[in-house]
Amino acid sequence: MNDVAIAADALVVADQRHLIHPLHHPKDHANARIFVEGRGAMLRTSDGREFIDGLSCLWNVNIGHGRKELADAAQAQMATLAYASAYAGFSNEPAIRLAERIIGLAYDNMAAAYFTTGGAESNESAFKFARYYWKRMGKPNKVKIISRQYGYHGVTLAAMSATSLPGYHKMFGPLVPEFLQVAPPYAYRWPGNGDAGIGAADAVEEAILGQGADTIAAVIAEPVMGAGGVIVPPPTYFPRLRQICDRHDVLLIADEVITGFGRTGRWFAMGHWGVEPDLVSFAKGVTSGYLPLGGVMASKRVHQAIEDAPPDEKFMHAATYSGHPTCCAVGLANIDIIEKEGLVERSAVQGRRFLEGLETLRSLSAVGDVRGLGMMAAVELVEDKGSRKPAIGLGPRVVAEAATRGLIMRQRGGGGTPVSGDSLCLAPPLMTPEATLDRIVQIVGESIEAAS
Ligand SMILES: Cc1ncc(COP(=O)(O)O)c(C=O)c1O
Repeated sequence: MNDVAIAADALVVADQRHLIHPLHHPKDHANARIFVEGRGAMLRTSDGREFIDGLSCLWNVNIGHGRKELADAAQAQMATLAYASAYAGFSNEPAIRLAERIIGLAYDNMAAAYFTTGGAESNESAFKFARYYWKRMGKPNKVKIISRQYGYHGVTLAAMSATSLPGYHKMFGPLVPEFLQVAPPYAYRWPGNGDAGIGAADAVEEAILGQGADTIAAVIAEPVMGAGGVIVPPPTYFPRLRQICDRHDVLLIADEVITGFGRTGRWFAMGHWGVEPDLVSFAKGVTSGYLPLGGVMASKRVHQAIEDAPPDEKFMHAATYSGHPTCCAVGLANIDIIEKEGLVERSAVQGRRFLEGLETLRSLSAVGDVRGLGMMAAVELVEDKGSRKPAIGLGPRVVAEAATRGLIMRQRGGGGTPVSGDSLCLAPPLMTPEATLDRIVQIVGESIEAAS
């Protein structure tokens, strides 16, 4: 063994001994892949292998790996003012400029942004914005949050309670009270012949009426459900959901942690359906993962409630790293790249082409559904196309086959409510070259055939 191999082996052993990972199980780390370098849509591991980053790591490296401009922005900001408090009475230029910039890119009704350090914290904050808003409006009992089955909103305690993928609950229950879940707009598995968009929006209204509208603060929804298996809603869903929220005085929180910053071919995704939410959670793509940052955008009416508050009702929500100057400077450099390189438009155009490529896999007997929007897509595996009987357990084998062919992707395990097949999830960086996108389609096809 050469020195490099010995060093890599020692790292694997130290990893097993001392590092607890997200979604940790020791068997996954018997031979962990240790990433050492990223360039564009490619990742290199400590054993010298190259992989296509088929999921932009965790749906977040939108501009691709290795952009020196972001390192330069961090270096320049750290050398000047690495950190300063943004608490009451204090501020800093990168945070101010990034908030202004993001509001300019988002929905017309948005007014101001609060910064966090990631997606779960953004959603925790959004729930508190919603409760705060209703207390300010004199409706203190509006506290409940409705989410959808298959939704993923992070795994801190309240975010986990909105997340509706049972694997995340089993060892950490009970859930926080006042969170409830309804049917998702999952067209491929919607029972009967009705429109899943209408039916799933009406399921939200039923829940509001069942609980009493005077108890519901907000509905939280990913515009396209990501970790749940890239579930793209029918076009009827969000316009109807918006009407239902308005009818019952319920806020609509768009969880755009994945879909923000160009992933679906728009800066923010609700625009696909002409809908404006009241609150927007974002993270991931705001810095393309180069530094941890997230946030919540508040619409004019929610912002006004904060601005008009008497001192004894001030917005007592906070975090040390809210408005972190270095993270915000990196966010600004990231948005510069997305704009200059036309990555939002590219995501729309290349995403369509990528989806067309994946559609050819429908000829395989194990492929039940192919869906996507912009640069996020899924291939759902079935045992039987006619009955749509889910294939469960095939996904991990396909993912392993893909890795041997040089592609990293993830699968969402089947089962759940409603029951589904394993779904292969793909979300490459927005800049991924055409030839690499074609290669992804080829590898996914070969891997399904090899694993079936
Ligand atoms: C839609 C959505 N919301 C929230 C989160 C949680 O973000 P984080 O892992 O940064 O807490 C994720 C993470 O994948 C996500 O996909």
